[in-house]
Parts: sequence; structure tokens; C-alpha cells
Amino acid sequence: MNETTRIPSHVAIIMDGNGRWARRRGKERYEGHMAGMDALRATVRNAAEYGVGYLTVYAFSTENWGRPQHEVDALMHLICKGVEMETPALAEQGVRVLILGDKSRFSPEVLDALDRIENRTAQGKRMTLILALNYSSRNEIAAAARKLARKAAAGEIDPDQITEQSFGEALYTAGIPDPDLVIRTSGEYRLSNFLLWQASYAEFYFTDTLWPDFDKAEFDKAMREYASRDRRYGLVKSEPEGQTAPQDGKA
Ligand code: FPP
Repeated sequence: MNETTRIPSHVAIIMDGNGRWARRRGKERYEGHMAGMDALRATVRNAAEYGVGYLTVYAFSTENWGRPQHEVDALMHLICKGVEMETPALAEQGVRVLILGDKSRFSPEVLDALDRIENRTAQGKRMTLILALNYSSRNEIAAAARKLARKAAAGEIDPDQITEQSFGEALYTAGIPDPDLVIRTSGEYRLSNFLLWQASYAEFYFTDTLWPDFDKAEFDKAMREYASRDRRYGLVKSEPEGQTAPQDGKA
């Protein structure tokens, strides 16, 4: 977190409620996802304006493959076309895009689009937008365990030397600071397999607003709420001289 302005360095969002938004309007679910895409575009701009450094959005979980095939297809189409269409504007805004998750299950067409947006925005310095796609936290943690186990079996590391830090570096999020604020829309109070390791000290903000309705006023509200929180990291309240954060570098 930026200690002077109390702006979170990293905001993570579970964009929930697209389906309900569509149903309430007598529309198809994919129309809700399209409206969700518009909310995402606006949120990227709002976050960048606040000076947020990292914005991670849960766009497709490993569990989402279990949705009806026509909805999975519509989401893949939206992701593919969405990243293609948004790339120039994101590059122009200085937004670097990273993909978080297991890319191996995507079609060559989707993979190409994801590789293109990562490459074409790689120089962005203003904000990093992380798209969690085919992501689940347990999957990520199991993959990290396999990676470290293989290294230990090859004699490259000593199992007794595995620390919280080295484990964190084996996760997909290596090099990315932990989220300061996790937002979930649509009145659900769950993490749903999202950033379980990384959100250990995050603040949580829940709102009944459905994701397509999450506009600038809603984002402002979440930021105000975050600024009012007292983060203690397991320590005691309001120690003088900046003693409220642990010594392990966590913001
Ligand atoms: C959850 O709402 C939303 C999703 C599973 C998809 C979110 C995806 C987008 C907003 C588009 C992302 C696009 C790119 C390019 C990253 P839900 O369908 O679970 O809603 P419900 O709970 O009301 O049914």
C-alpha cells in the first residue's frame, strides 16, 4: 500500500453477477458478460487514475469449464475478441497485461490473442492488469508444490530450506506483490479459489452491486472504505513511528 495516500498498490476483483444482471433484464447470460467487459474497461481506467499499481481480475476460473458449453464458448469468444479490441487502448494508457493461470487448456486462437496482448503491452509502466484465466488457487499451489518437489528430488534444493518466500516464488504470481484489497461484487461472500495464498493479509470489500453495474462511484466507495481500514498484520494497533507493518517487506 502507498502509506501516504492509503491507495492500495494491488487491487484484486472477483467480478461476479453478470448472469443475474442479464436475467433481471430478460437478456442472455452472454449479454451480461459483455456488459461485464464494459465495467472492466471502466475499472481499469479508474484504477489507473487512482495510481493503483496492479489490478487483478478473476475472468475465468478452472471451475468455469463446467458451465454449459455455449456459455464457455461465448466467454472464450469474448476473451479472445475483448483482448484483441482492447490492446491498443491499454498500450496507449501504459497498462501492461499479464495472464495468470494455466494457459494449456486454451485453443490456439485464444492463446495467440493472449500472447499478443502480453507482448504488445509489455512496455506499459503505469499499471499492470492481471487477467486470471483458467486460474484456481489450489491448482496454483499444487503446481508450486510439484515444482519444488521436482527440484528437491533432483537435489537442486534442500526441502528444509523451503520458506514462505521461496514457496511464494514458485507460484504463478512470483514477483507480483500480494493484493492489498480484494473486492467481490454481487452480494456473495466467498473467495472461490482466488488468490488464497496471496490474500492472507488483504482487506476484503463486498458489495451487493452486480459486476456490470460496478461503475466509478462504486470504485470510489471501495477505495474510501479501504482507506478507512486499520491494517495491523497481526501486530497491535497504532504503534508510533511506522511500526505497524511486519519486517518481511509486506506492504
Ligand atoms: C461471473 O459472473 C463472471 C464471469 C465468470 C466472467 C467474467 C468475465 C468478464 C467480465 C469478461 C472478461 C473479459 C476479458 C477480456 C478478461 P456470473 O456469470 O457467475 O454471474 P452470476 O453469478 O450472476 O450467474
